[in-house]
Amino acid sequence: MRFIIVLTLSITSLFAYAQFVTGNADTKPSPGTIKQQSNPKPMLGLPPLIIPVDNPQTQAKIELGNKLFHDKRFSIDGTVSCSNCHDDNKAFTDNLPVSLGNNGKFGTRNAPTVINAAYNKVQFWDGREPDLESQSKQPLINPVEHGLSDYKPLLTIVQTDPEYVTAFKSVFNINEKAITMDYVAKAIASFERTVLSGNSAFDRYYFKGDKTALSEAQMRGLQVFLGQGRCVSCHVIENDQALFTDSKFHNIGIGINQIQQDVPKLAEAFLAAKNKGANVDISVLSDKKSSELGRFAVTDVLSEVGAFKTPTLRDIELTAPYMHDGSLKNLNDVVKHYNNGGVTKVGDPVNPYLSGGIRPLKLDNNQIDDLVAFLKALTGSKAANLAAKEN
Ligand code: HEC
Ligand code: HEC
Repeated sequence: MRFIIVLTLSITSLFAYAQFVTGNADTKPSPGTIKQQSNPKPMLGLPPLIIPVDNPQTQAKIELGNKLFHDKRFSIDGTVSCSNCHDDNKAFTDNLPVSLGNNGKFGTRNAPTVINAAYNKVQFWDGREPDLESQSKQPLINPVEHGLSDYKPLLTIVQTDPEYVTAFKSVFNINEKAITMDYVAKAIASFERTVLSGNSAFDRYYFKGDKTALSEAQMRGLQVFLGQGRCVSCHVIENDQALFTDSKFHNIGIGINQIQQDVPKLAEAFLAAKNKGANVDISVLSDKKSSELGRFAVTDVLSEVGAFKTPTLRDIELTAPYMHDGSLKNLNDVVKHYNNGGVTKVGDPVNPYLSGGIRPLKLDNNQIDDLVAFLKALTGSKAANLAAKEN
């Protein structure tokens, strides 16, 4: 696990560095002293990663987070860890349409990859959590995921298992009684901040000028991506890096057709339940119709019905099936959905909340093939071995 943190050179960051190496890194800096830390030498194609000041990366913390991420004991039936649905060997997804949690229960949504989630401005398809730390606490107590009724069973394990007690002591300098969910969440988030993908064939071609990195078809596909396909308007490529997302929410016509007639009633009922204190995380992952409300469930804004966060496209070849409901089984189906102007089946009605950016593209079959070939050039160097295995 290589993760290099180079701190910006200033007196305050030297202070932070001193904390970093003494293993006392989680002492809260006094307000206004340290703004942010980042790794200014990220992988080719990625921007520097911003690390929260109150959760600096240390090797020991990353290792602790890795262990927590893979611990199946943190679930009601002892079978579910984060990695069930975000599997290291499946590009941190589960390759299922919707995720399988405890006791054979399915949720409503497709597991997004954790790869590059560290760069997300907000977490989840609907952006209902602001960061990795807060995100990590939700699946543990969601009835269709880890299924714990509260955090007590998890805390009992980390406060009594000698390996955890030692690790929390050395990482956070705390005794077992002081281990809380905030520390657990910090360690998990630190691990996730090492799950990164860059240096793909696309990056070597586009940012390093290696003209041999892409095949002819992939080069033509890139032109479709940038031009007639208009993919880049949401899956953004910058001058010096590309995260392939605008961090915004759009309705691109997925899943919404199943609830279209009922939207006003559903939206009203959802708001009423929310105002009475219903837990949004539980509602959207347990109830298929609530799930389809998308960003609306978070903002209460009707025009955001069926809008979901633009996901990254890095390692996309490895994370089928696609979309928030896992309804498209391969990249060819994805491109056809866009080519049809936001409907999966030609002739289906276009939903009234469809993003203005989605309209028929008039791509011919060769262009579709080229675009799919291009998407396969976004597989990062770390994942390339995996891709080779699958093909
Ligand atoms: C039962 C399967 C399952 C388990 C277990 C699970 N997740 Fe997820 N994860 C999902 C699904 C499904 C989503 C999308 C839910 C949504 O957007 O409403 C998700 C979303 C996420 C995201 C947001 C990614 C993004 O692009 O917005 C992160 C990060 C994440 N999970 C990390 C974790 C961590 C950490 C754990 C363990 C504490 C965990 N997950 C446990 C299925 C699972
Ligand atoms: C208007 C913004 C927008 C445009 C334009 C756009 N996308 Fe998307 N893309 C999204 C959003 C939002 C999602 C998730 C939608 C959902 O799940 O409901 C998505 C999902 C995807 C996915 C599935 C990702 C996953 O992890 O499941 C792929 C692949 C994809 N887009 C490729 C493309 C390609 C190729 C183009 C050009 C033909 C394109 N997109 C154009 C916004 C856009």
